[in-house]
Amino acid sequence: MRKKVIAGNWKMNNNIPATVQLISELKNKLSGSDVLVIVCPPFTSLESAKNQLAGSEIKLGAQNMYFEDNGAFTGEISADMLVSAGCEYVILGHSERRTIFQESNDLINKKIKKALSSGLKPIFCVGETLSEREENITEKVVELQVKEGLAGIPESDLSNIIIAYEPVWAIGTGKVATPQQAQDVHEFIRNLVQKLYNAEIASNVVIQYGGSVKPDNAAELLSQKDIDGALVGGACLKADSFVSIIKSA
Ligand code: PGA
Repeated sequence: MRKKVIAGNWKMNNNIPATVQLISELKNKLSGSDVLVIVCPPFTSLESAKNQLAGSEIKLGAQNMYFEDNGAFTGEISADMLVSAGCEYVILGHSERRTIFQESNDLINKKIKKALSSGLKPIFCVGETLSEREENITEKVVELQVKEGLAGIPESDLSNIIIAYEPVWAIGTGKVATPQQAQDVHEFIRNLVQKLYNAEIASNVVIQYGGSVKPDNAAELLSQKDIDGALVGGACLKADSFVSIIKSA
């Protein structure tokens, strides 16, 4: 049985006081659950988040990192910095990074490898744009993202990777994929992992759905056979809606 994993991608929201406030609300509202909960605040809030999370089961993640260890990379953050700030997870390959910051599959692959070798667990995002879906090339696009993103990553690392399927047209738009549309791509990804690795790894890999997940659509999405959790943007910024999504899981 795969455990359900609900992660909150705060994006560029919440300064330090707002971080402390949101995390203390989450801690108050969340009492022991079987769901793995991860929050991913902005870099500047990570340390405060970590302190505020003390004694809680909620895990900490970051939203990005660079693959080099250190040096002249102005504005970038390394895996080691994230580990020292208390992160266990890191979102990599988010569509906003791919589109706004032109991140390629190859760059994302380097980041995934560095994250893994530093002891961070990547939440590796893939997903097609609206025009790609309309051209009926969703599977082709997602296949390339998964293959190139996971290139050279050994079997033994797969238990430390979460894959997040996030159709770009559903992110922040209020247009959620239907449970069937999401399930179809999740099943496709799981079969692809089986081809690239093996059946056991494919049946264990956690595949989250992301894109306008809200309290009123979460339960149906999360009841699909191959949907193991959610990567939540907008709805994770309020404790009530995030907790309600966690409860549906
Ligand atoms: P959304 O964002 O829930 O606001 O659509 C999801 C994401 O970008 O991870």
